[in-house]
Amino acid sequence: MTASDPALAVVVLISGTGSNLQALIDAATADGPYRVGAVISNRPAAPGLQRAATAGIPTRVIDHTQFTDRASFDSALSKQIMAFEPGLVVLAGFMRVLGGDFVSRFVGRMLNIHPSLLPAFPGLHTHRRALESGVSEHGASVHFVTEQLDGGPVVAQTRVAVNATDTEEQLAARVLVREHLLLPQVVSWFAAGRLTLNDGQAYFNGSPITSPLQC
Ligand code: GRF
Repeated sequence: MTASDPALAVVVLISGTGSNLQALIDAATADGPYRVGAVISNRPAAPGLQRAATAGIPTRVIDHTQFTDRASFDSALSKQIMAFEPGLVVLAGFMRVLGGDFVSRFVGRMLNIHPSLLPAFPGLHTHRRALESGVSEHGASVHFVTEQLDGGPVVAQTRVAVNATDTEEQLAARVLVREHLLLPQVVSWFAAGRLTLNDGQAYFNGSPITSPLQC
């Protein structure tokens, strides 16, 4: 964000397909509140890197396999992010656990999208676990990132009904379509200054978020 470019610069971290990244790119209109300033992947082959390149967005790879420990990976990643001077960092299908030092550096300006109705099903294989547990509703959440894995304050959620005949793939696909609406909405709110984190509490339009906003 500068005087000549009032849009908030967002750095997006990915590991894979990048369909949520694509949704962010597509929703970032010229006069919108944010722009995707850079995309960083921990996997050199992540297809999302090509999406960014096609949109003319700078990309970087910080390959976690080239680091002997998490702290040195985190440090290299954090340096690379800061070089882009973002106002917000978005984890969009970023599949590495980040350490406490890293998280504290970006706390209050880092969001993650997770494919479940948190606090239900943190971690992996959320769609399978939702089906196995027999819940009638499933969905996705966007939350501020804290040291607790998938445990930071939830800002907003999108919900889908679980059908008795759903396969894991069918349920995942239905949730993903909704993620593509949810994530740009929350990022736009943040960029417009409507969403903040203060002392571990998330606020929307200045009021504490006591239950997740529904998108
Ligand atoms: C999404 O379901 C996201 O919620 C999860 O990983 C998936 C990434 O998909 N964290 P994509 O790479 O954005 O297509």
